[in-house]
Amino acid sequence: MLNIKHISKTFNSGTVNEKQAITDISLHLKEGDFATIIGSNGAGKSTLFNAISGDFFTDSGSIYLDGEDVTFKPQHKRAKFIGRLYQDPMRGSAPGMTIEENLALAAGRGGWFSHIKKSDREDFREQLRLLDIGLENRMTQPVGLLSGGQRQALTLLMATVNKPKLLLLDEHTAALDPATADKVLSLTERIVRENKLTCLMITHNMHSALELGNRVLMMDAGRIVLDIEGQEREDLTVEDLLAKFRMGAGKQLDNDRILLS
Ligand SMILES: Nc1ncnc2c1ncn2[C@@H]1O[C@H](COP(=O)(O)OP(=O)(O)O)[C@@H](O)[C@H]1O
Ligand SMILES: [Mg+2]
Repeated sequence: MLNIKHISKTFNSGTVNEKQAITDISLHLKEGDFATIIGSNGAGKSTLFNAISGDFFTDSGSIYLDGEDVTFKPQHKRAKFIGRLYQDPMRGSAPGMTIEENLALAAGRGGWFSHIKKSDREDFREQLRLLDIGLENRMTQPVGLLSGGQRQALTLLMATVNKPKLLLLDEHTAALDPATADKVLSLTERIVRENKLTCLMITHNMHSALELGNRVLMMDAGRIVLDIEGQEREDLTVEDLLAKFRMGAGKQLDNDRILLS
């Protein structure tokens, strides 16, 4: 589904601020793969997502999405195949528009001053009901009134309503309180499973990194230093994971927000 071959990216090339953010990364995700990503601060995790989304073109290498070479496709052309969530719940939805308008826009079924069909509205209501946080009763309220967790759950629904080929989650529960984060994570797990989505999820929570998905990647200094799946991953504990990181990267995992449980 996603095939990345030898991509590299250096920012501010030739200046004192030159920074090689990703170095010769290759990654192949099979359809339905759900890989979690952990790594130190500044390891290049978000930059990898930016490269996949087409926020910039990489300096070298190529990126294939569902068999199509998207290496030089601009961001807006990739956007319809890629759902993306960020840490900030304020990103990804329009605060002044209602819940149903946001959903209609995301689904490509009106919303922007245009009429929402009754059948679409009922469809949205059903999908919101499945989130199980009461949003189905608030469909005509502006999104700006929602809490961070409610808004992130809605954004998750919006990002997946058209079944993207790839879902990119960049620490999407990091700004939420622990109980809400758990709820959004289990929602994530369910939505990915039910829609059989291919997904990459960056997390600083070591437990979630092992609990969700079928594969765990570790990044350090612009590279993927470990990639574990199958039985080896099943058997892995948080301690094993940290020890493996030390071996792969040759240093301790250094992330100021790291959560061990
Ligand atoms: N647009 C940019 N311009 C310059 N430097 C950048 C840019 N984006 C990321 N970087 C640098 O690249 C490195 C990797 O950043 P990032 O991918 O955000 O790390 P993280 O793994 O914490 O998500 C960091 O040193 C960061 O400062
Ligand atoms: Mg980041």
